[in-house]
Amino acid sequence: MKDLKGLVLCGGRGTRLRPLTYTSAKQLIPVANKPILHFVLDQVAEAGIRDVGIIISPETGAAVQGAIGTGERWGLRATYITQDAPSGLAHAVLTARSFLEDSPFLMFLGDNLIQGGVQALRQRFAGSEADALILLKEVADPRQFGVAVLNGDGSVHALVEKPQTPPSNLALVGVYLFRPAIHAAIARIRPSARGELEITDAIQELLRAGGRVETVRLEGWWLDAGKKDDLLEANRAVLDEFTRREILGDVGDECTVTGRVAIGRLTTVERSTIRGPAVIGERCRIQGAFIGPYSAIGDGTVVTQSSVQHSVVLDGCRLEGVDRLEDSVLGRAVTITRAADGPKALRVFVSDDSKISL
Ligand code: DAU
Repeated sequence: MKDLKGLVLCGGRGTRLRPLTYTSAKQLIPVANKPILHFVLDQVAEAGIRDVGIIISPETGAAVQGAIGTGERWGLRATYITQDAPSGLAHAVLTARSFLEDSPFLMFLGDNLIQGGVQALRQRFAGSEADALILLKEVADPRQFGVAVLNGDGSVHALVEKPQTPPSNLALVGVYLFRPAIHAAIARIRPSARGELEITDAIQELLRAGGRVETVRLEGWWLDAGKKDDLLEANRAVLDEFTRREILGDVGDECTVTGRVAIGRLTTVERSTIRGPAVIGERCRIQGAFIGPYSAIGDGTVVTQSSVQHSVVLDGCRLEGVDRLEDSVLGRAVTITRAADGPKALRVFVSDDSKISL
């Protein structure tokens, strides 16, 4: 078998993560202070893949390229492929045709996070003759995903994209393995009602034409971090799984730091309580604050007389006197200040450079 290539999708509009994606590519939004895309590339590299095509959009492509570079940090060789418009996942494959040639490939959506990586999946594919291997996961609300209907023997009966009335609760996870037969199937499909060339339709077409489609159930967690609640959930899951206690900053005497807490270089913590799992970046100032479980605080952020929990706070923010910030996502350089008689608990989702006075 020719070497497996990787295709990581970082195009798209990111409308579901607005307002955050007005200023950033959604694949670069950090979870536990690390861009989602870095987790994806970690897993692609772990699976032994070396050649990776990265689909980018004209709007956010430069930012993605800036964050990943040549890919050598992961031992990868990255080729950037611009998709002029977000015309669908199958359109992205079509756009990457000359990069992919006739190699088998792993397609990974740049905003999906899965537990445990894709190594086992790769091995399973290498040992099978399937034209496509898809990953499925039971979800509570399948209407926002591609959905699979299986036959009694576990083989695929049909696939449908974002059905109003889902025929099953098995969603297609954003990781797919293909052999080159997928290209002919893509050539035969037409855009869906939402105007996109759907990969789900292409796999369904592959099936119709007698192709072999196999499935694997994902046992671990899977998060499509492309939405606010999923972003917080992804942050929670990743902090839970990966945070190690590592205190590089300067923690004063009157502080309590319990559990798995990571504090970056040049960060100072004074008269504060920090309870893990939580991560605080570099060059932050934490004063008279409570940083509770499942918080990720980006570099250069200042938190004074405030309490934060279960929130993602990006770089360069300033929180002053905010009694309780919870279940929130703050973009970069957000300032929130609260007067003595302002409201106590706060749940917000705001983009870069926002200013809120309470
Ligand atoms: O997350 C899994 C789901 O991903 C599957 O269950 C669905 O079957 C599949 O269609 C897809 O649905 P989404 O609506 O969540 O896809 P989204 O538009 O968010 O795009 C997924 C990733 O692919 C995202 O990182 C952006 C990128 N993308 C998207 C489009 C439409 C591209 O690179 N090019 C595109 O044209």
